[in-house]
Amino acid sequence: MKKILTILLCVILMLSLCACGKKGGNGDVTPDNTPAADPAGSGQDSGQEKEVDAITSATANINWVPRYNGNKNSDILVAYFSTDDTVRAFALHAAQALNADLFEIIPAEPYTDDDLNYNAPDYRAGREQKEGARPAIKSMPEDMSRYKYILLGYPIWGGQAPAIMYTFLENADLHDVEIIPFCTSNSSNAGTSATNMQKVTDPSVKWREAFRLIRNGTVEDIRNWLESLEIAELK
Ligand SMILES: Cc1cc2nc3c(=O)[nH]c(=O)nc-3n(C[C@H](O)[C@H](O)[C@H](O)COP(=O)(O)O)c2cc1C
Repeated sequence: MKKILTILLCVILMLSLCACGKKGGNGDVTPDNTPAADPAGSGQDSGQEKEVDAITSATANINWVPRYNGNKNSDILVAYFSTDDTVRAFALHAAQALNADLFEIIPAEPYTDDDLNYNAPDYRAGREQKEGARPAIKSMPEDMSRYKYILLGYPIWGGQAPAIMYTFLENADLHDVEIIPFCTSNSSNAGTSATNMQKVTDPSVKWREAFRLIRNGTVEDIRNWLESLEIAELK
């Protein structure tokens, strides 16, 4: 009886040791076994530098984003709009590599799946573009005058930048700054998306050619592009 009890105790001990060794098990563990971070842009930074967030990116081959909330002392801003994480992933990688400040353009009225359903006859995103609407933004950056460069990220919608990008540009009061547009898409090129946006900014604002991340583009593609800009040493 004593022997059976001892064996039973050993089994229980081994089982509990195994359980302690496992992390999560609910899908919130990244391949390197680091617990998942808060969603990007949540404004909560635990101070960890770990690259942890796994994302689902429809049009790029990026499945993680760095935990990065932006460097307020930088003269580079990465400002972006994203409804499905692709541009977000691009923006976070870019901002971290440049040690830049970061700003997410958040619509006052979030886009639902129906709003984005371009197969529907009268979907919100398409209607806004057709009508030249200026969908409201939740909040604007406090002071944009300290930036020398603004990397401006957006998804291609109907071959163009979403209407909300125009809201952002028209409310930003930009002067003597260089805008570097970047975008993601299923198949369309940047086309006239950036040159059309340029029309609503002050003549003192310089615009570079827009960069579109190719379908299934990677973090390496982003870094190569950032390097080619020659605006900062990459981290
Ligand atoms: C309303 C809408 C319109 C779109 N129009 C185009 C388009 O004209 N050409 C294209 O290649 N992709 C188009 N797409 C696909 C997006 O550009 C692509 O999925 C992009 O990477 C989404 O970025 P996000 O994940 O940051 O939102 C469209 C997507 C939506 C929601």
